[in-house]
Amino acid sequence: MSKGLCEGFLVCVLAVAALFASAGAVAAAESDRSGGDFRVSHAWDKQNIAIQIEGLRKPLRVLHLTDTHVSGLHPNAVPGPEPKKNPTDVNVLETLKKSKEMNLDLIVLTGDIIHFPKREWAEYVAKALDATGVPWLYIAGNHDVDTKDGADPWPALEPLTKGRNAFNSLELGGILFVGIDDSQYSVTAEQLAFFRRELKKGRPTVLLMHIPLSVPTLRPKSILWWGCPILLADPDWPGDRKWLSLETLPSRFSDKTTTEFAWAAAAAPNLVAVLSGHLHGPSADNVNPKSVQYVGPHCGFGDYRLVEFLPFVPGSNSSKKPANKKN
Ligand SMILES: [Fe+2]
Repeated sequence: MSKGLCEGFLVCVLAVAALFASAGAVAAAESDRSGGDFRVSHAWDKQNIAIQIEGLRKPLRVLHLTDTHVSGLHPNAVPGPEPKKNPTDVNVLETLKKSKEMNLDLIVLTGDIIHFPKREWAEYVAKALDATGVPWLYIAGNHDVDTKDGADPWPALEPLTKGRNAFNSLELGGILFVGIDDSQYSVTAEQLAFFRRELKKGRPTVLLMHIPLSVPTLRPKSILWWGCPILLADPDWPGDRKWLSLETLPSRFSDKTTTEFAWAAAAAPNLVAVLSGHLHGPSADNVNPKSVQYVGPHCGFGDYRLVEFLPFVPGSNSSKKPANKKN
């Protein structure tokens, strides 16, 4: 996959008026506004994301890890940029040790955290996460669940899922984090219903899932990096069937429920961000005028994203200049 685009990953700023009015706003515990009646602004560079939310009372710091592919193998064994010194398990451990100095409120993991569903590796990562003393939320990726032989992957993943395979959620600091397992390129009716129920709570909501939503600005990158749009609810996927693991996946791609899920996210007035992975290259793309989908990098070599949720201060998130401009 091309990393050239990653280097061109600019500091961008999006300041958005609250275009979506809300009926029946609910007073949130740590946020003055909810139900979508709040302004959101986004700013980001390669490693840091700042999301200002109107009504948020205090900052929240979140570490986003995705696609670590922990397996202890030499980095050459997994897709990614140039091989580096340490194997993935050591790199992830070092990132999590480093996270102790980041003053974190939450760690979110959006899939392909282990390279295949082996309980030993799930326990290894869960133990390292617990050692940080920070709450964490995990959702699976296609590699986490890929048993190759159709066997049930979930028992091996239990240290990470804690039994919540299909969906989970956690409210922290007035923000609702909702995880949906889309590791098989589809979302079930039960997951869609859960997502809608969570959105109806009216909190500023962050969606966590492995495979990113297909949005117009992300499609060209996926096609360039992977040869086809390996995205959720993409109208052309699986396209010309270049993708090798296609035969092992179910035939439910972009079915009606999955498409409805994508529309539910795009139409949600209180969705502020989507954190995802799968493409092994960072990207930031609008889902709607208020929310941005952040695709994380391959984190098996020490990369990570730090996401700060901050109270909204008009103008302050739009004062940064693009990183590749000299002025
Ligand atoms: Fe991956």
